[in-house]
Amino acid sequence: MRILLAPMEGLLDHRLRDILTQPGGAAGSCGIDACVTEFIRITSTLLPAERFHRVVPELRNRGRTPAGVPVRVQFLGSDPACLAENAALAAMLGAPVIDLNFGCPARLVNRHGGGAALLRDPGLMRAIVHAVRQAVPAAIPVTAKMRLGYDTPDVALDCARALADGGAAEIVVHARTRTDGYRPPAYWEWIASIREHVRIPVIANGEIWTVDDARRCRAVSGCDDLMLGRGAVANPALALMIRGDRDTGFAWPEVREMLRRYWAAIGLQMPERHRHGRLKQWLLHLARHYPEARDEFGLIRRLVRPEDISGALFPEFNATDAIPVFSSRLAMSLA
Ligand SMILES: Cc1cc2nc3c(=O)[nH]c(=O)nc-3n(C[C@H](O)[C@H](O)[C@H](O)COP(=O)(O)O)c2cc1C
Repeated sequence: MRILLAPMEGLLDHRLRDILTQPGGAAGSCGIDACVTEFIRITSTLLPAERFHRVVPELRNRGRTPAGVPVRVQFLGSDPACLAENAALAAMLGAPVIDLNFGCPARLVNRHGGGAALLRDPGLMRAIVHAVRQAVPAAIPVTAKMRLGYDTPDVALDCARALADGGAAEIVVHARTRTDGYRPPAYWEWIASIREHVRIPVIANGEIWTVDDARRCRAVSGCDDLMLGRGAVANPALALMIRGDRDTGFAWPEVREMLRRYWAAIGLQMPERHRHGRLKQWLLHLARHYPEARDEFGLIRRLVRPEDISGALFPEFNATDAIPVFSSRLAMSLA
């Protein structure tokens, strides 16, 4: 079984990837086999290398988190030639895998024909994967992540086949349409149908919050491999628990220390106005699993200034002793 950490734009950035892939299991593993970056949107230009390094600083570490977990670089766009050009650059910079987004539900993105809007045009999906496949060295896999359709899952099989025909090495299926948004349930049974229609590996995604969800998802979808999104952000030990390496989640003090290190990393690299939002977002996700997180959220709900948040949550806070390894290395390289 492989377990992948899902891309989550606006939350699961390189700082959180670093923290969630630090070893926490009995065998010194984090339980996660690969991460996918938040999407990098491609419109009509070749992005400068500096932009890739900002979103994916792991490129300076052979495309791996500090703990050594490979990071797939995800692109979102609808222009095959432009996506291909950017993918070639990312590959040159060290991306171990290029992933393509066919599921983003954001209105702005869809209005420009990207993300889930592409599920209405399997021909274009195929052309995008094909162009990217041609542009990057054969040793670098091109993968794709799709929803079941835009407003109906009737197109799911055609879409999956288009990705496979275009040359995708494997696909992740988030088992909902764009119209379904993030509302439960996820329709894992559709993943089983997709598996029967394509010959490439299929990874199941959507609504896996517990070990029992993972077991049922694997049984219904027939997939060995899973991708975890919100579940892993809410319970950082979920991958280890699914593997049977731990019986319970991390104790709250351990998670709180992760939170403190995340706050330190944010403070080092993110504009002040965005910092409080990131921390609150992770706290709200953690609150699904840890009642303590809801209490801590209550303490900072109305606070915006970093010094106020540090004072309320981490009075013992010392900005230099809590920075995750990779973030401090990155800070040095930017200095
Ligand atoms: C805040 C947020 C941001 C997301 N950003 C991305 C993204 O950048 N690329 C992508 O392919 N999917 C993105 N997704 C979708 C997730 O990767 C995943 O498919 C979805 O959350 C379902 O999995 P889950 O139920 O385990 O969370 C995002 C989801 C959320 C909630």
